[in-house]
Amino acid sequence: MRRGVVVRLVVVGIAASAVALCVALFIPWLPTPASREADRIDFVFWFVSGISIAIFGLVAAVILIAVVRFRARPDDDSDGPPIHGHTGLEIVWTAVPAVLVTAISVVSAVALAQNDSLPRKHLTVDVLAQQFYWSFSYPKYHNLTSNVLRLPVNEAVQLRITARKNDVIHSFWVPQFRQKQDAVPGLVRTIVITPDRTGTWAVICTELCGLGHALMRARVVVMKKAAFAAWVGAAPKQTGGGKAVFVNNGCSSCHTFKPAGASATIGPDLDKLPAEARKAGQPLEQFVRESIVHPNAYIEPHYPPNLMPQTFGSLPKSQLDALVRFLIGKGK
Ligand code: CUA
Repeated sequence: MRRGVVVRLVVVGIAASAVALCVALFIPWLPTPASREADRIDFVFWFVSGISIAIFGLVAAVILIAVVRFRARPDDDSDGPPIHGHTGLEIVWTAVPAVLVTAISVVSAVALAQNDSLPRKHLTVDVLAQQFYWSFSYPKYHNLTSNVLRLPVNEAVQLRITARKNDVIHSFWVPQFRQKQDAVPGLVRTIVITPDRTGTWAVICTELCGLGHALMRARVVVMKKAAFAAWVGAAPKQTGGGKAVFVNNGCSSCHTFKPAGASATIGPDLDKLPAEARKAGQPLEQFVRESIVHPNAYIEPHYPPNLMPQTFGSLPKSQLDALVRFLIGKGK
């Protein structure tokens, strides 16, 4: 190959790589990471991106030079020169990708192993996914349950993610934490997260799970350690009433109910419960209780059966009673 061609290859290759590098760097593809695991995943991401950008530059340069310099001239009707391959080239384009793919595997495996390792001192949170809400409970704090995932900063947390046996598959994802994990009925899957800055982000369900999938969101709040301890200390006093049961069990993600400040429209409007009970021909309290425990017993016109999860019969009796009182307007 003549020297001029090599120089052009190098120049075009660098130019193409520079364009790809700008696309990679100046478009915010990923939200700013907020955990140590996310930093490791981003390292792998940029490692692979770097390799891809270099290969793109090389391929783009070879294609451009070949198209421009070696194209057939309009008056050229001859056959091309008889070429039967190039052993040196073939060895290079087999060996180089083999080395790169091996390097990517090793870097990924190291990041995965580090992300899966759980330090002895850690917090455990049980994550329950249901159609269509998240709830989070803290075994260390008497199973304190919240519909907001609150975490102390700089402390490893193990999430034990599951769904009830008669529910469907959901998937836990906080983009700033990068990792995803499915919530599979009857199985407990875990991930480790070590948040490294405070802030509020969205927990997103990232597995199509039914009508309310797009709205199946919760908040994650990463707090300073003292603020987290204060929340844990204050929380038990706030979980007694029917409104707390309503909110913590995600009722407000599907229903409208003014006393709870809820305005969702996936399920029937609970401000109209007295009228519904009359239609169903039942006393209000009995109707409300039955609708929670056996949602398919009476179905509001224009709503499909099985829309409402049939899992609330497992609520502790005191919470169920408080919830019923709250819904019939006799308690907070
Ligand atoms: Cu739950 Cu999508």
